[in-house]
Amino acid sequence: MKEKAKNPWLKIPAEDYERHMSAPNVLQLQMLNKIFADVLNEFQPKSIAVLGCATGNGFEHLINKNIEQIVGIDVNQEYLAICKKRFEKKLPQLELVCADLNDAEFPNSSFDLIHAALVFEYVEVEPLLSKISHWLKSNGNLSVVLQLPNDASALVSETPYQSLKLLNSIMKLIEPEVFREKVRQYELNETRNYKIKLQSGKCFLGIIFKQNKTGAQYIEPL
Ligand SMILES: C[S@@+](CC[C@H](N)C(=O)[O-])C[C@H]1O[C@@H](n2cnc3c(N)ncnc32)[C@H](O)[C@@H]1O
Repeated sequence: MKEKAKNPWLKIPAEDYERHMSAPNVLQLQMLNKIFADVLNEFQPKSIAVLGCATGNGFEHLINKNIEQIVGIDVNQEYLAICKKRFEKKLPQLELVCADLNDAEFPNSSFDLIHAALVFEYVEVEPLLSKISHWLKSNGNLSVVLQLPNDASALVSETPYQSLKLLNSIMKLIEPEVFREKVRQYELNETRNYKIKLQSGKCFLGIIFKQNKTGAQYIEPL
């Protein structure tokens, strides 16, 4: 039987990942940290899942927030071990799950908020959206951050951390309209979006979707 290829993320040391993502010409760790803080403030969830949580960027914003359930999921055990070391004392409710999101399962209606920042670029989009729509509680929110396709900048920015180049072989940027089209099938209605352009020239789109199990359509205010 053919063996499944090892996910390139497993070959990227946590130190390389964090140094690359926070490098002065990248600054994505800082951007994602702020986005996470804003999303938490906006929704004040009682239960949250963070998909592709890596080493727990922004988890300091979960402390003292009266959140009953916090689940972080990532395929890389080293990242999760660091996350655990950093936050287990201050976040006793933190549950870290080492799993491939393409295979992960959670009970239906588990979460008020699911945050997936720069993760859809690495997974099978539709199967994960389908699962998310079940994992969310009724009226729960999905917060997504996508890297926008941009001919002017490299997929993975140039930094001294060469292991990140492994991502060039698996990273698939998704056109927002293609993503929205897929989301429509899963009773998730877009409620808000925002665009961020970094100094590197890279652009990112954040979109919030609300679970709408009633089947009613969200209508934009006039
Ligand atoms: C760009 S990082 C995410 C950044 C993070 N969400 C933040 O806000 O700072 C992508 C993460 O997704 C994880 N990942 C990639 N593919 C995955 C998969 N198939 N299943 C689970 N995690 C995956 C990687 O290990 C990595 O930690």
